Amino acid sequence: MAQNLLKGKRGIIFGALDENSIAWKVALAAHEQGAIFTLTNAPVALRLGEINKLAEITGAKVIPADATLVEDLEKLVTESQALLGGKLDFILHSVGMSPNVRKGKVYTDLNYEWLQKTLDISAISLHKVLQVCHKNDALNEWASVVALTYIAAQRAFPGYGDMADAKATLESIVRSFGYYYGNAKKVRVNSVSQSPTQTTAGSGIKGFGTFFDFAEKTSPLGNASAEDCANYCVTLFSDFTRMVTMQNLFHDGGFSSVGTSDAIMNLFLEKES
Ligand SMILES: NC(=O)c1ccc[n+]([C@@H]2O[C@H](COP(=O)([O-])OP(=O)(O)OC[C@H]3O[C@@H](n4cnc5c(N)ncnc54)[C@H](O)[C@@H]3O)[C@@H](O)[C@H]2O)c1
Repeated sequence: MAQNLLKGKRGIIFGALDENSIAWKVALAAHEQGAIFTLTNAPVALRLGEINKLAEITGAKVIPADATLVEDLEKLVTESQALLGGKLDFILHSVGMSPNVRKGKVYTDLNYEWLQKTLDISAISLHKVLQVCHKNDALNEWASVVALTYIAAQRAFPGYGDMADAKATLESIVRSFGYYYGNAKKVRVNSVSQSPTQTTAGSGIKGFGTFFDFAEKTSPLGNASAEDCANYCVTLFSDFTRMVTMQNLFHDGGFSSVGTSDAIMNLFLEKES
């Protein structure tokens, strides 16, 4: 369904690793809606080569950047503007990684050096992206920056480990930078709190399958897919959401507003009978 919602808009999409990545689906949807953009990921992730397929489909250039390195981000932002022909209208921050989670360190036994990495990659990188854009005046007025997050920022979810702290920090950066960038340039900054989704990052969480099923049975609409998330991100990049900023927006089939559901209660009833 191409409605040209993003016709004439230029952007940068972080975090497309493979075709399961949420960022991959956002790139496809943004392309379908007429946007032009660059794709970026950490050099080590680019070595897998998968992203070149996406670049071909969407006509995008790939620019390597470690999202924790300001000099990489400066190069990315400058090159993207040169390639795309002007200031940018949207950025997707779809970046996350926790060495503690990846290496099975539980929350009560964190490796603190790794915690620093988790925070730098998964949260502070958003500040770095925004600060580089702000200092270089790289975003057009009414540009839209969207970061992906998870409800473990607000509530405890065993297994999500130190990523919960990273997401809480990320959502705080959304509010704080949203304030300054909104005042300075009418730039919008929001986070989308997405349902559990089968991706490399998602599946790294211990017990992800059970987590996924629990959310599916709790949410009145079921879990939101990566494709649905991509469509939502497109609306946030579009001019139809111009007055939305500094928000954490739940895109989760209703999960965040439910205490329990009939489907979950029935599982216990079955046990009782
Ligand atoms: N999958 C889920 O269940 C789920 C749910 C809610 C939110 N999210 C969030 O969505 C975002 C995208 O994750 P995904 O599920 O698509 O998984 P994914 O593994 O496909 O994407 C994560 C991306 O982060 C990139 N990355 C890691 N370190 C980086 C660095 N130093 N510099 C630049 N990029 C780096 C990876 O290469 C990868 O492309 C993440 O922020 C994740 O926390 C995921």
